Amino acid sequence: VEIIAADDRTAGLTTAEIAETVYRLDGPLRWALAEVDGLLRDAGVRAGMSVVDLGAGTGYAAIPAATAVGPDGCVYCVDNTPQLLDVLDRRAAQVGLTSRLRRVEACAVDIPLPDGCADMAVSTYVLHELADLAPAALAELYRVLRPTGTVAIADYRKTADPQRNCEIEAWYARQHDAGGADERHLRFTLDNVEVMLASAGFRHIHLSTWNDFHVHAIAIK
Ligand SMILES: C[S@@+](CC[C@H](N)C(=O)[O-])C[C@H]1O[C@@H](n2cnc3c(N)ncnc32)[C@H](O)[C@@H]1O
Repeated sequence: VEIIAADDRTAGLTTAEIAETVYRLDGPLRWALAEVDGLLRDAGVRAGMSVVDLGAGTGYAAIPAATAVGPDGCVYCVDNTPQLLDVLDRRAAQVGLTSRLRRVEACAVDIPLPDGCADMAVSTYVLHELADLAPAALAELYRVLRPTGTVAIADYRKTADPQRNCEIEAWYARQHDAGGADERHLRFTLDNVEVMLASAGFRHIHLSTWNDFHVHAIAIK
């Protein structure tokens, strides 16, 4: 795996927090649902493409993307938590995809990649963690995409049902009480996601609801 850059703003998580995060991100059911394969297919991924995965984590999107782009494509795995990228590196080695991945340790709002270098950008379940930084991160994805490049986003969404939202956030709060990450998942409505993408400059925005409280968004630069 080629290392593009190290950034001094890497997240300072404890070993226990990293272990909990890996446990959560790598749940076998989550991977078995093959959500990202559908998202990438809908976004038009093709062999030979270069893809930026923003907030790559342990590879939930990067591994399917690396498979889809084939031996002539590549996936830039951007994340500010090196320990999660280490897990991704090991997974890539296990499945023979190392040569297609580029490790980019960096903050989402300051990606050390040149303008217009990517055909596609994908980011799964990162915007809610970025919170107020989400618009700036989408602007960075716009910058690194080539003209007419595609962005594909998956995240949690606030539904129109406040009671349902409360139940879902309470469930996550219980995970936090049990040692999980302290974060708010349901930050964005479908409208919020559309406005953020449009404000970053994206057009032809297509939103879909993957299930009860998730959103998929695909748009063009
Ligand atoms: C919930 S995880 C999602 C990981 C992966 N995309 C997935 O779907 O499994 C959020 C990821 O965003 C990364 N992240 C959070 N804030 C970030 C920032 N400011 N810059 C870069 N990465 C960030 C975290 O390190 C983590 O890997």
